Amino acid sequence: MLREVTAIRYVEPLRSGGSVPGVVEADDLGTYVVKFTGSAQGRKALVAEVIVGELARALGLRFPELVLVHFDPAIADDEPHQELRELHDASAGLNLGMDYLPGAKDFTPEVAEVSRVDPLEAGRIVWLDALTVNVDRTVHSSNLMVWPTFGTVPPRLWLIDHGAALVFHHRWDAADPAKAYDFRHHALGRYGPEVRAADAELAPRVTEELLRSIVDEVPDAWLADEPGFATPEEARAAYVDHLHARVRTSAAWLPTDFPTREELAADEARRTARTQQGRPNWLKRVPDLHGKPAAEQDWSVHLG
Ligand SMILES: Nc1ncnc2c1ncn2[C@@H]1O[C@H](COP(=O)(O)OP(=O)(O)OP(=O)(O)O)[C@@H](O)[C@H]1O
Ligand SMILES: [Mg+2]
Repeated sequence: MLREVTAIRYVEPLRSGGSVPGVVEADDLGTYVVKFTGSAQGRKALVAEVIVGELARALGLRFPELVLVHFDPAIADDEPHQELRELHDASAGLNLGMDYLPGAKDFTPEVAEVSRVDPLEAGRIVWLDALTVNVDRTVHSSNLMVWPTFGTVPPRLWLIDHGAALVFHHRWDAADPAKAYDFRHHALGRYGPEVRAADAELAPRVTEELLRSIVDEVPDAWLADEPGFATPEEARAAYVDHLHARVRTSAAWLPTDFPTREELAADEARRTARTQQGRPNWLKRVPDLHGKPAAEQDWSVHLG
């Protein structure tokens, strides 16, 4: 079960997040990013966070610990912004917290230039997103973090923010387990994700029992009063049935048309050749600074 903690200090709002999560310190001395029940994204975003995040963890992907956070708006009464005070007031009680990764960087194409993406790991992440219909892991908003960014441990990819997954739970009557997944703008599409290998490895692991145990982690309060379901238990069964049916039809939704590593390498070589061609002779001899984008951008400034 998810641990329960109580927020004792409000640190700051994370304004880069659409739902404006809050960073809090809790009575277990941990620091957490809190997704509030009162946000415009609603309780379903929290249900998706729990189900997809815990599924990611069960499949061996890196995902910060989730906790249930008891939040008293009084701890944030020095928050100067009225709209955030209203968000906090609407969220008194149980909310969702994610372990805060200090110093973590958002994964962007620039960050990827200096930290190699493993194609099998990329394949596993794309596969999870396709299974859970996560529409919010794009080149514009990767919802992936790189951590740690200091010390001796090498930085790794961490998954965050699955609030926009499980799109089908917004219209259960039209939910189709075989629906294709639109992967064209996926954040990892350009790193040769080995999606077929991930499917062979992960699909057999997504059993009904595993799904059942994950869905059981969602608090009743976030599943209550769901139109079409008499009880939270009925809603849980619908998630299990849908995801179990979907995992068995992976051939229908598996995204496989990503460019291969060879195609990507050829593309990269073509781009490098084009850049070289446009340079004066003296600049062609300038050593490649490990392809660091900042260096490239500086040179183009000089070439005007
Ligand atoms: N566990 C974490 N550790 C460190 N930073 C985090 C963590 N979770 C989120 N962040 C930072 O906060 C930002 C917003 O978080 P998140 O994407 O979860 O919020 P959101 O409200 O769901 O945002 P949106 O819907 O706009 O994507 C992230 O892009 C990241 O920079
Ligand atoms: Mg996000």
